Amino acid sequence: MNNFNLYNPVNLCFGKDEHRQLSSLIPKDAKVLITYGGGSIKQNGVYEKVKGALKNHEVLEFGGIEPNPQYSTLLRALAIIKAEKIDFLLAVGGGSVIDGTKFLASAALFEGEEPWDILAKGIRTTKALPFGTVLTLPATGSEMNSGAVVSRKEIGQKRGMGGPGLFPQFSISDPTVVASIPQRQLANGLVDAFTHVMEQYMTYPTSATLQDRISEGILSTLIEIAPKLMNNPSDYGTAANFMWSCNMALNGLIQKGVPTDWSIHAIGHEITAAYNVDHARTLAIVLPSLYRFKFEQKQAKLAQYGRRVLSLEGTDFDVAHEAIDRTEDFFHSLGIETKLGAYTTDAASFPKHAAAQLESYGATRLGEHKDITPADVITILNATL
Ligand code: NZQ
Ligand code: ZN
Repeated sequence: MNNFNLYNPVNLCFGKDEHRQLSSLIPKDAKVLITYGGGSIKQNGVYEKVKGALKNHEVLEFGGIEPNPQYSTLLRALAIIKAEKIDFLLAVGGGSVIDGTKFLASAALFEGEEPWDILAKGIRTTKALPFGTVLTLPATGSEMNSGAVVSRKEIGQKRGMGGPGLFPQFSISDPTVVASIPQRQLANGLVDAFTHVMEQYMTYPTSATLQDRISEGILSTLIEIAPKLMNNPSDYGTAANFMWSCNMALNGLIQKGVPTDWSIHAIGHEITAAYNVDHARTLAIVLPSLYRFKFEQKQAKLAQYGRRVLSLEGTDFDVAHEAIDRTEDFFHSLGIETKLGAYTTDAASFPKHAAAQLESYGATRLGEHKDITPADVITILNATL
């Protein structure tokens, strides 16, 4: 097992009606900016609950943060934060609103000229405006981690940022909100969380027995609850397990002490940047193809996953192959297509474009062995057309 530091200061407030804690979680004298997305919070009652809980606070609002939050939108919010001297941010939404708010928290205290540098130059955030979240869409784990992803469509980029200053102070995670989530987003949440675990698990065997068992527990739970969640998102127990699994998949715990991959995400972000495909769907496209390409190196772990999570039997070679097929079937069972060709008819030149983009960011050695080159990215993507 590798050495590790485990640091996670997020106060996770999990369960029914936890928004009632908001008034005591945010300092009484704070000037608060509530950030939200396209308006779903006004239809499912979350907006009223938050406003009610903060009725004695000074509160401004900024709506319109889109899925895959856009830099240009966030700059408008940044201007309000500066002009109004906001000193606390409250993100109410899914991963996009939370990530956008993390960018704002960092940019508000950024001393350089161009806030995009935080992403383009990989500047880690150690200091940021304090912020909290009210999660409305389990998927990304952003409510309990210190990463964010921001898009800039004018230049066709989707880039990540992070740092110890970007942990939310608290996150309200109330599973009752899951009842209001559309099928497409439920499926996305399951696949995103599933792939988060895979990126931290599907590498090669190590002595990290407990990390493996926790990862396998999350994968098994997601597979077990998936049909129940899709059929009845109002069932509280199912919704709670979904929300907690998505959080556990990317709150930092399962990556401790183990090698990680993250190449599926890196390549997937290029698909979103080019075609605006939902984040989770890009992962469903890349994962099967990448695992087939890296079969030899991942065979032992694929076989372990096949036996322990999917109850498959046979030789390592057979179980590992079937494990990839079954994973693809799982994505299909959620109505998620796993070929890029199903999302666009204009992808012939995309593999080369994606490889060039990654190369321009210096992302030329992806994967747990740092051996996935731009040429490999082309091969992996060609198999998805
Ligand atoms: O904008 P609103 O109106 O809120 O509607 C949203 C949006 O249209 C809707 N939605 C959210 N909660 C809802 C709801 N609709 C009805 N009822 C509710 N309760 O769902 C749509 C998608 O929301 P979005 O926030 O974009 O989805 P998600 O949570 O999947 O976030 C995706 C973003 O997170 C990034 C992705 O790259 C993408 O930009 N990620 C962030 C990570 C992190 N910070 O750790 C890791 C991930 O790997 C990922 O990269
Ligand atoms: Zn993801």
